[in-house]
Amino acid sequence: MPKVTFLPDNETVEVKEGSSILDAALDNDIWLDHNCGGFCACTTCHVIVKAGEDNLSEMEEDEDDRLDGAEGLTLASRLGCQARIFGDVVLEIPAPPGAIRIVNDAQLVAGQIDEEN
Ligand code: FES
Repeated sequence: MPKVTFLPDNETVEVKEGSSILDAALDNDIWLDHNCGGFCACTTCHVIVKAGEDNLSEMEEDEDDRLDGAEGLTLASRLGCQARIFGDVVLEIPAPPGAIRIVNDAQLVAGQIDEEN
């Protein structure tokens, strides 16, 4: 069974081959937003592939078009509800806009480090 590692929590789970990233996360109690319910109608399930890109299904046109509106879009971005898993992958779940994440006594605010706080 393929292994999926979700960052930043560094949690690795085994999933059924062909599962979507969204199902892999939710089936293992890892929260991944999915405001449209997995119908490729939002971008809240956006993830960034850190390793194993070739182990995911090829991107369809609908996913490609929808991703254009994703916050923090990268060349390695995928929609969790659309990409299916066929081998080991490492994925980052980006912090939602406006989120605060504590990193080594610094605050990461909306993608920028504010070292004074
Ligand atoms: S859950 Fe809305 S596009 Fe994936």
